[in-house]
Amino acid sequence: MQIDPQRQRLEELRREINQHNYRYHVMDDPVISDYEYDQLMAELSQIEVEHPEWVTPDSPTRRAGATPADRFTKVRHPGPVLSLGNAFNTAGVRAWYDRIRRLEEDVAQADFVVEPKIDGLTVVLHYRDGLFIQGATRGDGEIGEDITANLRTIRALPLRIPVDPAGPAALPYLVVRGEVFMTIRDFEKLNHRLQEGGQRTYLNPRNTAAGSLRQLDPSLTATRPLTLLTYEIVSAEGDLPATQSEMLDYLRELGFPVVEWSRCEDIDQAIAEAQAWSDRRDQLPYEADGVVIKINDLGLDNDLGVVGKDPRGSIAFKFPAREVTTRLLDIGVNVGRTGVLTPYAILDPVVIGGVVVRQATLHNFDYIAVKDIRRGDRVLVKRAGDVIPYVIGPVEAVRTGEEQIYVPPQLCPTCGEPVEHLAGEVAWYCVNSACPAQLIRNLEHFVSRGAMDIAGLGIKIVEQLVTAGLVKDVADLYTLQKDELLQLEGFAEKKADNILQAIEASKERPLSRLITALGIRGVGEVMAADLARSFQDLSALASASFADLQTLEGIGPNIAQAIVDWFARPANQQVLEKLHAAGVWPRAEKPAAAQGSPQTLSGMTFVITGTLPTWKREDAKEFIEAHGGKLSESVSKKTSYLIFGADPGSKYQKAQSLGVPVIDEEGLRKLAE
Ligand code: IVH
Repeated sequence: MQIDPQRQRLEELRREINQHNYRYHVMDDPVISDYEYDQLMAELSQIEVEHPEWVTPDSPTRRAGATPADRFTKVRHPGPVLSLGNAFNTAGVRAWYDRIRRLEEDVAQADFVVEPKIDGLTVVLHYRDGLFIQGATRGDGEIGEDITANLRTIRALPLRIPVDPAGPAALPYLVVRGEVFMTIRDFEKLNHRLQEGGQRTYLNPRNTAAGSLRQLDPSLTATRPLTLLTYEIVSAEGDLPATQSEMLDYLRELGFPVVEWSRCEDIDQAIAEAQAWSDRRDQLPYEADGVVIKINDLGLDNDLGVVGKDPRGSIAFKFPAREVTTRLLDIGVNVGRTGVLTPYAILDPVVIGGVVVRQATLHNFDYIAVKDIRRGDRVLVKRAGDVIPYVIGPVEAVRTGEEQIYVPPQLCPTCGEPVEHLAGEVAWYCVNSACPAQLIRNLEHFVSRGAMDIAGLGIKIVEQLVTAGLVKDVADLYTLQKDELLQLEGFAEKKADNILQAIEASKERPLSRLITALGIRGVGEVMAADLARSFQDLSALASASFADLQTLEGIGPNIAQAIVDWFARPANQQVLEKLHAAGVWPRAEKPAAAQGSPQTLSGMTFVITGTLPTWKREDAKEFIEAHGGKLSESVSKKTSYLIFGADPGSKYQKAQSLGVPVIDEEGLRKLAE
């Protein structure tokens, strides 16, 4: 029988992509770029679109696409998904050891495995004939919720085992337990992104992971940086390794991401190891609330049995709590560059896990209201890993009646201008661009590399300029006089000259840089470049209506509104006038128009997929822009044409489904004539 070459290619792609997923998400050692990875995925999707009959649930393309569920269905676990007993110090561990040694004399010769106890969510993963068929939450230990579609979006989770066909065979049925979590870094990145966008931030990595995993819409889960580590086989058909350490090795060989672990010869070593973990707790990339000490011999572990829901053969050695109570002295408010007001707690200094904590985040004003946090309250504060300390809530039982309910400021605490609230966002904003707190951050942004790139103007000088009252808005930079600078501490002739020269040079920056520099909420470098292509200068952009802006690719209602609002504000209009008067008024370059190409593609947006016969992508971009058109990354209803070449990606199908006309390179040339 002849094997279809496309089918063969499909299998090859799946194998390759699975390998790359494994290298990237489990081994942390990728061998190809994200771009190359996307190319492989695009090629695979393309074949699957052409041959839907070849799509299987373990295909790497199935990680994101499932439709939202109404609610989760219940799943009965194949065996009890147990919990753990706790020990809070080494004496507790010894007491546990003595207890089980009395029960089974073999314990005296036992060796142990020590693993971190990751603060995430337990998941139970079922594999039938090597295929991931179902995943569930722990629930009550007997019945959990079916979250298979959400789990598929986690790249570290193997959809088929063994990942490496040369590895050991997977048993016909295997149920693996692991922990889904978010690294501290990913959590903070996510929160930063949400905060910048005026969205509600999350409390801690665990809550975020829990919320993300229980989304009814898997495509939302897919946007969250969840990951997985496994540590147990709950149930299986066939023979299993006899010890925990061999079990962990086996899981690793099958391609599972496995917790870090160490084997210890006896209980003393295990305790020393647990202590060592505790000492380097802050260096862990994830939150761990302790370590688990496990009897290595799984037969002995089984013989020891279970008390309630806790297996006797394992114990959690909990790290000292990082939650303490202290007095909330006051609530301060920070003003960010975009004017977002963020409340923070000023605390009676307190040591948490060896670090003195004086301030903690209060997230946003809603949080204070919902938790009913009052000035003067005794509050519970948590510091975990490298996460910024945060206030968990008040200890209501010890209230004296002296505490004061907090009312969020109506006026910006720095400049006294009224604050504003945008529908659909939790944040309050100071919208006065001359606000000193904001001004410092705004100036910092204005002079930064990606914006006006004014060399030598660092944060210290920015602060000096604002404090001395020399700069009241970004435009004032352009009227600074040398004798004014010389009044400032640390300034001599040379330094003043250099700064003035750098400021002068920044007048030559292109329009896109100036748009970025204005710091309009939601308008980053890429969007600024798009705007600079569509508008001749800042006056043209200033007079664009909400509707005009929304017709542009990539601009949704929130950003369109933010742009309109920014230009409507009198203080900002004044800044624009001053910039204009100072000669900081770049106009969009239209090289094509200058060279005389007819603007035949004006107002059209193009997307390219696949390899064009004669043009590189850059050539096509130049050609399109020279004729007044625009090139965009992704296909939407606003796309005028999709230009396709050899091996088109999934954009091709998307264009067809949206009814976007598709042309080739030659078609593009004709269109521009
Ligand atoms: S072993 C019979 N190992 O801790 C096995 N649990 O407080 C019992 N956890 O629900 C669990 N890391 O979610 C085990 N390396 C690890 C763990 C771990 C995190 C969680 C797990 C469990 C909870 C018990």
